[in-house]
Amino acid sequence: MTADWNELKNQAVKWMDEAGKMLKESLSHHLQVDKKSDPNDLVTEMDYKVERFLNEKINDTYPGHLVLGEEETGTNIESTDGVLWIIDPIDGTTNFVHQKFNFAISVAVVENGVGKVGVIYNVMHDEWYTAVEGEGAYLNESQLPEVTPVDLPEAVIGLNGRWLAREKRRDERSLHRMVRKSRSVRSYGSAAIELAYVASGRLDSYMSFSLSPWDYAAGLVLLKEVGVTATDFKGEPPSYLQSSTVLVARPGLHNQLLHYVHDHEGFQE
Ligand code: IPD
Ligand code: CA
Ligand code: CA
Ligand code: CA
Repeated sequence: MTADWNELKNQAVKWMDEAGKMLKESLSHHLQVDKKSDPNDLVTEMDYKVERFLNEKINDTYPGHLVLGEEETGTNIESTDGVLWIIDPIDGTTNFVHQKFNFAISVAVVENGVGKVGVIYNVMHDEWYTAVEGEGAYLNESQLPEVTPVDLPEAVIGLNGRWLAREKRRDERSLHRMVRKSRSVRSYGSAAIELAYVASGRLDSYMSFSLSPWDYAAGLVLLKEVGVTATDFKGEPPSYLQSSTVLVARPGLHNQLLHYVHDHEGFQE
């Protein structure tokens, strides 16, 4: 029996709203901040708290569903068979710690490898980006329009400047060349928010050399609903289980940008 994806989306929104209140409340207290793989990779007690909260709610309400989360949930999951929730309890932990602003909770539901529901909650802006497969994408109560084609000279691209700083090549296909040809670039420090911004037309493209499924799973569902092309740097769909490069862009622009990134696979931070 197929799930009622709208009901499931409403349930996710309710839990994420509660989690958002927990995050806002935590900002007035002292936060326990730890480092993960490197000194710039931060995690707080709230990342774990929100992930556990959402995982418990999902397990209680949908016992047959699997959950994959950034911090500790579902590390043994190896297949997208059945219904899989992919959650990022705080996307933009550096912003959460340093700015107390510009961070999101990202939740996606995937059935047999197909994205069904995507919700990105920009907590401090109180903006909800929601989508159910085949039913359009929304920013709060307003349906987002289908995107239209755009060319690089008119495009604003979401891009983390650290990748530019590391690039050694200076030929015709360099990222530096791409940036100079664009109208401008922006960097918000939350992949989920940047993907939501492409879905809502605030950005024309977003790209990253290394993301994980919890960073982009919900974004992929939203972007498909408004006609944004979303691939890895080789033009293939990003995986729901493994890390990937990510290039999302409005029609026309996507092909132009692939020209610059397609042989950048393996470029490590
Ligand atoms: C990070 C953010 C950031 C992106 C990193 C992600 P996190 O997620 O989305 O914008 O550049 O690659 O890891 O760790 O804050 O959930
Ligand atoms: Ca993290
Ligand atoms: Ca993330
Ligand atoms: Ca995170």
